[in-house]
Amino acid sequence: MRKWNDDPYTKKARAEDYEARSVYKLEEIDKREGVMRGARNILDLGAAPGSWTQYCLRNIKSANIWAIDLSPLNVTDERLKFVQASIYDFDIPKWVGDLRMDVVLSDMAPKTTGIHEADVAGSLELALKAFQAASSCLKENGNFVVKVFMGDGFEGYRDFVKTRFSQVRLLRPDSTRKHSREIFLIGKGFLPNSKATF
Ligand SMILES: C[S@@+](CC[C@H](N)C(=O)[O-])C[C@H]1O[C@@H](n2cnc3c(N)ncnc32)[C@H](O)[C@@H]1O
Repeated sequence: MRKWNDDPYTKKARAEDYEARSVYKLEEIDKREGVMRGARNILDLGAAPGSWTQYCLRNIKSANIWAIDLSPLNVTDERLKFVQASIYDFDIPKWVGDLRMDVVLSDMAPKTTGIHEADVAGSLELALKAFQAASSCLKENGNFVVKVFMGDGFEGYRDFVKTRFSQVRLLRPDSTRKHSREIFLIGKGFLPNSKATF
């Protein structure tokens, strides 16, 4: 049985039958930045237990969702393809073939150790991997949303993402827990032919 604490976002998630409170981060990002408008294909990295996938299925009516996580996803739908794998071992370009994504989402997070430097480094590594995946399969003008823990290396990462998108924005949603170091970086308008390499 799932455990719920008194956090208002957690209660709301339960009331609205979402798998996790993190859905309200994506909802705020989408409402403020319009990243999902008209999307037909969405790649959701670090999708388990599945609240971001649920958000996409409920709100982006025509979209197909491609989801990956180390853990099982608690969501099934005919518009959803899920693979249980690590982003480090899985060949995303081969999986999606010639299809281009309108949006790539990454809410991936490492297992936290409590050692700040190690957790920041783990998060940055996942964010780089997400960027690499986005670069391999995003449509021209597509959008990228990625969670990163603030710390050493963050500015370099942001500057690198800037070379491949028309616009990069940072957002810390209201539902982010007070002590969390996470922030979301939003790349809008993918530039496939930018000279930057990865
Ligand atoms: C904060 S949770 C994602 C919550 C999800 N967005 C939701 O709304 O339900 C972070 C996820 O990242 C996944 N993750 C961490 N490292 C990963 C990796 N190497 N490959 C794939 N998924 C990974 C974890 O298994 C975990 O489920």
